[in-house]
Amino acid sequence: MCGIVGYIGKKRAVDVILKGLSYLEYRGYDSAGIALISDNSARIFKAPGKLSNLKEILCLQKESDINATTGIGHTRWATHGLPTEINAHPHTCNCKSLTIVHNGIIENYKDLKPVLEKKGCKFLSQTDTEVAAHLIAHEFNETKDLLKAVQSAVKKLKGAYAFCVTHKSMPDRIIAARKNAPLIIGVGEGENFIASDIPAIIEYTKKAIYLSDNQVAEIKAESIKIYDENDNLIANKVENLPFEPIALSKMGYKHFMLKEIHEQPDVVRNVLVDKLHDEDTAVVLDDVQLTKDELEKINRIQIIACGTSLHAGLVGKYVFEELTGIPVDVEASSEYIYRNTIADENTLVIGISQSGETADTITAIKQAKDKNSHILIITNRKDSAMARLADSLLPINAGIEVSVAATKSYMAQLLSLYLLAIYFAENKNSKNSLIKDIKKELLTLPSKLEAILNDTKNIENIAKKYSSYKNFIFIARGINYPSALEGALKLKEISYINATGYPAGELKHGPIAMLDETMPVLAILNEGIVYDKVLSNCEEAKARQAKLIGVTNFIDEKHKNLFDDTVIIPEIKDIVSPALNIVVLQLLAYHISEYLGKDVDQPRNLAKSVTVE
Ligand code: F6R
Repeated sequence: MCGIVGYIGKKRAVDVILKGLSYLEYRGYDSAGIALISDNSARIFKAPGKLSNLKEILCLQKESDINATTGIGHTRWATHGLPTEINAHPHTCNCKSLTIVHNGIIENYKDLKPVLEKKGCKFLSQTDTEVAAHLIAHEFNETKDLLKAVQSAVKKLKGAYAFCVTHKSMPDRIIAARKNAPLIIGVGEGENFIASDIPAIIEYTKKAIYLSDNQVAEIKAESIKIYDENDNLIANKVENLPFEPIALSKMGYKHFMLKEIHEQPDVVRNVLVDKLHDEDTAVVLDDVQLTKDELEKINRIQIIACGTSLHAGLVGKYVFEELTGIPVDVEASSEYIYRNTIADENTLVIGISQSGETADTITAIKQAKDKNSHILIITNRKDSAMARLADSLLPINAGIEVSVAATKSYMAQLLSLYLLAIYFAENKNSKNSLIKDIKKELLTLPSKLEAILNDTKNIENIAKKYSSYKNFIFIARGINYPSALEGALKLKEISYINATGYPAGELKHGPIAMLDETMPVLAILNEGIVYDKVLSNCEEAKARQAKLIGVTNFIDEKHKNLFDDTVIIPEIKDIVSPALNIVVLQLLAYHISEYLGKDVDQPRNLAKSVTVE
């Protein structure tokens, strides 16, 4: 993870970099740092914790110490070494002439470090990045050319990196390099920018070069030169960036997470527009690049994703299997890789990712690509590395999601999967009446979501009542089992309460041993085939004195003596109910976290974009 920003031009670099980093804090916020390069000086400022700590330090500096027009900055998600000031980037060499900011993991740093130590390099931090700093400095001492030094050093590095390097003797240039980690170069007039992601630079330019793996770039205020892995100069491929300047405003909400939860009705409308017109018309999915013939030959689907996106994939499995009869496997990307997966040209591999940058999913997709499977990517970032690997690209158009805990992107992923499953079913000429029912439900979903979002008092009260519990169990069956997993994930990641999702029927196979009055159980029960079964599982939990919260669309006399608290959601068919139930669970997690005074939008130890395996 980590976010990096570089600037070279006429403006005060510190202003551009700090602003850019503020848009990249979603990539990590364990520490931040900046190096300002001018007139044979490299001034480094660092602070543990959030960017605001670095800003405070910079406010105390003399203007002459921070007015450089070349600089590089970093916001860190710790991989190697504690989130301390010493481990914060930029890192430097013995004589502090060279500075580097890095995103990724140098896998062979333990091999390189003793070699460099023997040559006299003194290491101050526990990071892998410092090894790269010394290695490049060493090469620089030989060549006195920063570009050549980086070109030579990267050939010795294994792993993933996107970095920017400066040398105080050359304040007119920044060298950037990339392998398996995102990096773009923003093209300006008389100034240029480098960043891990578009929001950091979009205010200044709409033109950028996406650096490819193994490329190295020499960036000056007036020029950008890109070199391939054989050090040959190549032509610049300048692209238009797909973003408007982003107003990262909470729009009056206390947190981005709450704002994003409330955006979900519109997100649904956005996903459906032009794709689903009415229940009697076939779904239009021009993004799917499979011919009817190819589509008919698909006999297996594999869904790969991580975290919340994985939970969306699990819902997708139920819908696909129900509507198309095609067997679907859903697997965490990190488990899909490094084993012999069975896939061929008749397998559809669906990668789901909000960011489109998740390293495990990218690796898994590349593995599937090697088996000639058709790769369909569902992502919120159509400019991402994953999108570039797609044979078919399904952008979810949820809009930028700032809160680290995913909410509206999950909703958009669910909707995209419903549409995709219907599209497949319709192309296979299924005349399933269920398809019509689902379409009807999808079209009314925004107003049902609004009904939940317009009256959250009951959920807020429940949140307050249960906020002091240390453990939680979420149970459900069938298509809402993934909702239980996702609800538990939301709660644990933003409140640090130990919450686990189980298939309700599994409770009696072990987890029931943990139940007593200190362990609330949240059960999701929708009217449908598993309703009575979940109800029985709730009875079993009640008999062990567990406090019970029911989330249901069914008003049933039996609930009265069973549940301590109940949230009633609008009437909805079981197969589409995950899209409503999850909003209750998102709100519950949000209000518990908020009540406990946690950092809702930037929970500890996490980052929005997980670019390391
Ligand atoms: C949880 C969350 C994470 C992500 C996971 C995958 O709220 O956001 O679990 O879902 O890191 O990220 P993407 O979807 O970007 O691949």
